[in-house]
Amino acid sequence: MRFHLAAIMDGNGRWAAARGLPRLAGHYRGVETLRRVVEAAPGLGITDLTVYAFSSDNWKRPAEEVGGLMGLFSDYLEREVERCAREGVRLGVIGRRDRLPVALVRDIEEAERFTQDARRLTLRIAMDYSSRASILDARRGVGLDTGVPDVDLMIRTAGEQRLSDFLLWESAYAEFWFTAKTWPEFSVEDLREAVAAYSRRVRKFGGLAYSDGLAMDSGRGAGVAAVEDAGIDTVVSR
Ligand code: FPP
Repeated sequence: MRFHLAAIMDGNGRWAAARGLPRLAGHYRGVETLRRVVEAAPGLGITDLTVYAFSSDNWKRPAEEVGGLMGLFSDYLEREVERCAREGVRLGVIGRRDRLPVALVRDIEEAERFTQDARRLTLRIAMDYSSRASILDARRGVGLDTGVPDVDLMIRTAGEQRLSDFLLWESAYAEFWFTAKTWPEFSVEDLREAVAAYSRRVRKFGGLAYSDGLAMDSGRGAGVAAVEDAGIDTVVSR
C-alpha cells in the first residue's frame, strides 16, 4: 500500500533570523531535518515523500540566496546519492530543469540514474516547481498525468497554512497537518505525531466512511491502513 507524504519545508529563514544567522544557515539546518525525515519515513509506512525545495516563484529572492540554494541542492545530491541507493531511496526531481545551473542538472540526472532501482522510498524533490505549470504541461501531453501520485498527507511547517502552488492537482483529497515549528526545528517525533493524527482521520473520498459499516469503492482504505502496516498505534474505531 502506498502512503504519500508531501512537505512544505517552511521557516528556514525565520529560524536563522531568530538566531542572528544568515538565511542560508537556516537552509543548511533544513537539510539536516530532511535527512532525518528521509531516514524515518519507511519505518512510518511512508512509500513516497515529496518535498518543496524551490518554487518557481523563489527566483524572486536575492541572487545570493538563490545561488546558495542551488549549491546546497548539488551538495545534497552528491553527498546523499550513494547512501540513498544503499538504503533503497529512489531520488527524483520534479519541476523545470532548463533554468537550473548545468552542474545541478548533471547531479540530478546522475542521482536519478544511480538510484533508479531503489524501491523502499521514492523521494521527489521539487525544484523550480510550479504546480499550475505542471498541470498545464500534463494537459499538453496525453491526458493529465503529472507523474506524481496523489498526496495522502500534506505537512507545512512554520505556522503557514497554504499550498503556495505545490501539488495542487495531486492534493485533491490530501489530509493536512500544520505546525508552528520551523522546518529546522521539525523532529522525527513531530513526524510521528503528524502520521498518528493522519491515521485517526477517516477518509471518505466523497463516498461514505467504512466506519459507517458501508464499503468504500475508492479501493483505498482510510488513513489508518498504511500506518497500521507500519505498526503505528491508531485510535480509529471500525
Ligand atoms: C522555505 O523557508 C524553504 C525554502 C525555500 C528552501 C527549502 C530548502 C531546504 C529545506 C533545504 C533542503 C532541501 C534539499 C532538497 C537539499 P523560507 O526561506 O521561506 O523561510 P522563511 O519563510 O522563514 O523566510
